[in-house]
Amino acid sequence: MRLQNKTALITGAGSGQGRAAAKLFAKEGANVVVFDVNAVGAEKTVNEIIGSGGNAQLVVGDVSHSEDVQSAVAASIEAYGGLNVLYNNAAIWSAGKIDNYVTELEEENWDTVLSINLKGAFLFCKYGIPAIIEAGGGSVINIASVAGMVGSRMRSHAYSASKGGLIALTKTMAIAYAKEGVRVNVICPGGIDTPMLQPMIPTEELYQRVAKSHPLGRMGVPEDIAKCALFLASDDSDWITGVTLPVDGGVTAC
Ligand SMILES: NC(=O)c1ccc[n+]([C@@H]2O[C@H](COP(=O)([O-])OP(=O)(O)OC[C@H]3O[C@@H](n4cnc5c(N)ncnc54)[C@H](O)[C@@H]3O)[C@@H](O)[C@H]2O)c1
Repeated sequence: MRLQNKTALITGAGSGQGRAAAKLFAKEGANVVVFDVNAVGAEKTVNEIIGSGGNAQLVVGDVSHSEDVQSAVAASIEAYGGLNVLYNNAAIWSAGKIDNYVTELEEENWDTVLSINLKGAFLFCKYGIPAIIEAGGGSVINIASVAGMVGSRMRSHAYSASKGGLIALTKTMAIAYAKEGVRVNVICPGGIDTPMLQPMIPTEELYQRVAKSHPLGRMGVPEDIAKCALFLASDDSDWITGVTLPVDGGVTAC
């Protein structure tokens, strides 16, 4: 029970990696605030946690809307008395046509992706970190991507830029809040088998090719990320902050 008496707010917890983390954190004793724009997915996560004897609270909203973010932080405090762990996971790959070249990238697509992937995390930090400080310190975990560290062959230029920005934001926040006991780290997943990735690798042949491009020889699963996030959320990592952690089957070592 590594998160006993802790409250964790997880964005994008209605699917994929966010759901896996929500379930693992709840299993480890955390009260989990499940935040997602997709009400059906978020409700499923909450029901699965409660069905297994855990504690979860549903908040439906958009990470890029300041009022929704402030309501989510307020809901965590109202339901569980505070906030200890903030997990910025919600993101989209693209909001329009796939841009093989930056000249093809529509301005609206850029704005939407940056707004959700980067501004969303900024808003949750802006309104969530004061609550974590109030609780005596805690952990912020941001989910970027290997596409924020190295160039990506599966191209969404806005996505790569948003994830690179999130890595930089993480490091600066880690320094700024260290003395107040707030640790801030960022995980960079490789290819993870979730609804975000599946449309990009529709055939079994392509799936196997992408899986084998990871030196460890397989595609990642949401639980690979959840396990590392649990370590970063818990006191086991209490001397770790500002770290960019690839969890990628070795792909960035190539
Ligand atoms: N799947 C991969 O291969 C991969 C690789 C690297 C990084 N990532 C990152 O991992 C994280 C989780 O992605 P996933 O693979 O589980 O994808 P996913 O599509 O299964 O889950 C993303 C969740 O975010 C939610 N979301 C999207 N926009 C939102 C908004 N505006 N407000 C609130 N919620 C919103 C979606 O409804 C969904 O539930 C993302 O940050 C993603 O960029 C994924």
